Amino acid sequence: MRTLTTLDDLRLELDAARLSGRSIGLVPTMGALHEGHLSLVDRSVAENGVTVVTIFVNPTQFRPGEDLEAYPRQLQDDIALASERGADIVFAPPVHEIYPDGYSTTVSVVGITETLCGAPERRGHEHFDGVTTVVAKLFNMVQADRAYFGQKDAQQVAVIRRMATDLNFRTKVIACPTVREADGLALSSRNAYLTAEERPRALALSKALRSVAGALSDGQRDVATLSAIARDELSVTDSVEYFEIVDPDTLEPVSTIERPVLAVTAARVGKTRLIDNFLLEPHATAVTTPTNPNPTPQAAHLQG
Ligand code: PAJ
Repeated sequence: MRTLTTLDDLRLELDAARLSGRSIGLVPTMGALHEGHLSLVDRSVAENGVTVVTIFVNPTQFRPGEDLEAYPRQLQDDIALASERGADIVFAPPVHEIYPDGYSTTVSVVGITETLCGAPERRGHEHFDGVTTVVAKLFNMVQADRAYFGQKDAQQVAVIRRMATDLNFRTKVIACPTVREADGLALSSRNAYLTAEERPRALALSKALRSVAGALSDGQRDVATLSAIARDELSVTDSVEYFEIVDPDTLEPVSTIERPVLAVTAARVGKTRLIDNFLLEPHATAVTTPTNPNPTPQAAHLQG
């Protein structure tokens, strides 16, 4: 496996791969790799001749006062993990390689970036501008056949799909199921911030989503009732940013569940901001409980 830090080197490697007829898979990350990220690497390795994992803590997607400085950085460990899982290239550029002096272009998706994590009171639109700008740049740099994203960040996937369609990127956006701890907590680099006291309370998000999935499979389709069930479970967190049931593509709220929807939530436990979501089907009859001993993707029909 090669570790590259400049765009020139990356292009040389990828031109050679393309000439030899190999397809290219891209896994964009901010590093501190865990099994969630590595499940994307596995999928890309299975589906492509060459897998490029990018590791770049993107400063433009952090809001003022957010954890840019504190964000976990462990490049050497990440390189070893990506290599073990069969990645061919780790691209870990310095900030000036991505944002050279004078950089002044922003890729901005409107509409679906202004709700949930993008709500105006959270200045979330700026966050998504940072994400779409860096992902558009990575799509241009790598020119991958496929790019892999986690359904864990459901709004991010919807926003990136919108951008890729609107800007005619050839790269196919592929969403992969959320990988969870055995007790249901969605893996996240930010889980490292949780204290021993906070860790059990962090479970409230997946519990709330599971209770909603359970009530739905018992026939409850009214969103107000399902939201009340969720908010009850979420009351052990320190603050609930949102719990909503929305259309998976437009992210518009629904009032009754007649078709597949996305139940999404964000809450704070201590200083840590956590997000989670389940995809819900009105006709699903069983709820999969996350009792797996090893973190693996949950059933895709029920859970994101
Ligand atoms: P990061 O948070 O490092 O996540 C990289 C990818 O891993 C994202 O697609 C994310 O959805 C996925 N991921 C994280 N936790 C996961 C889990 N438990 N199960 C499955 N997939 C999971 O998301 C970003 O970085 C950035 O915004 C990025 C897209 C790289 C742009 O900077």
